[in-house]
Amino acid sequence: AAPVRVDISRLEPGQRLTVEWRGLPVWIISRTPEMLARTEAGEVSRLADPTSQRSRQPDYAAGELRSIRPEIGVLVGLCTHLGCSPLYRPEPEAAVTADWPGGFFCPCHGSYFDLAGRVYRNVPAPTNLDVPPYRFDGDDLIVGE
Ligand code: FES
Repeated sequence: AAPVRVDISRLEPGQRLTVEWRGLPVWIISRTPEMLARTEAGEVSRLADPTSQRSRQPDYAAGELRSIRPEIGVLVGLCTHLGCSPLYRPEPEAAVTADWPGGFFCPCHGSYFDLAGRVYRNVPAPTNLDVPPYRFDGDDLIVGE
């Protein structure tokens, strides 16, 4: 199949775009400086796999923000428990738990993730959301590999 190319030039700060890559729903999230600061300030001890040792992602997404560019998150939009679609809840006010910096909440069995897709402890999902292989082609195109 031809690689998927997604134009992100119209993605507004804070917005999430959902596209389909190889049959998978993939989220592209424009993370604002404020969202990044909140994520980086999150309590690492509350995460189940903060450095993604047990989670699926390309090597180039190995940092704590799990992306090539900090401001652009790319994640497979399927809960790693049983594959439901987590809800986008970027604001901490929507928190289902104390000290949540905002992120994704799975309504099926209550797993929650930060804005880097990192899962919290003591929820059913065992690992972080997957990061699919991708690259940038210039400033505005993401190519799914
Ligand atoms: Fe998401 Fe079970 S499928 S918590």
